[in-house]
Amino acid sequence: MEIKLTLGVFASGNGSNCKAIQKAIDDGKLGARIGLIISNTREAGVLRFAKERNIPSAYLSSSEFSRIEDFHSKVLATLQENSVDFIILAGYMKKVGHPILDVYRNRVLNIHPALLPAFGGKGLYGEKVHAAVLAYGAKISGVTIHLVDSEYDHGAVVMQRAIDVKSEDTAETLAERVLELEHETYHKAIQLFVEDKVQVIDRIVRIKP
Ligand code: GRF
Repeated sequence: MEIKLTLGVFASGNGSNCKAIQKAIDDGKLGARIGLIISNTREAGVLRFAKERNIPSAYLSSSEFSRIEDFHSKVLATLQENSVDFIILAGYMKKVGHPILDVYRNRVLNIHPALLPAFGGKGLYGEKVHAAVLAYGAKISGVTIHLVDSEYDHGAVVMQRAIDVKSEDTAETLAERVLELEHETYHKAIQLFVEDKVQVIDRIVRIKP
């Protein structure tokens, strides 16, 4: 498939979504390449994956910079050195700073393991999301892929997929099924940008036919 986008993936942990995106690329399902992986965790699994696959990578954490402006400048310079034109958050546990969102306006995507706007926002991440879904007694959950703005889990929704919550589900089993759905879905949302099918009008995403 022709490569139309160079992705910069930001991830804090294991990076199973990052790996699923690379697999979609390898399988010819996504017209993009991963040009850079950034993690704020020095020992992140996703950085090991980058090394294995010879993908340029960087450990960049705001905690290593005395001025936040310097951190943002370093992130932006690293993105630009690697020709990144689209940012993918895949389990990135930090907010993306304004200077980066300004440069990559409507070109930063995040994945959340529930159907937003329910069960999202500050403090709702990882198994806490699934525990909240179960505690509420919701009968469906799923995946939301959305553009990123300056609030947690808030930007315009690009794609959602739902699954049933089973009465025997625990936070762990629900997390497992949702993660599988994440892996099947994220590359499809990115492909919409590759095909230039996404229009954002007044904070609403419209998908061109
Ligand atoms: C995923 O559940 C994603 O929805 C959330 O963080 C988790 C990351 O998992 N934002 P992984 O690092 O991609 O395995």
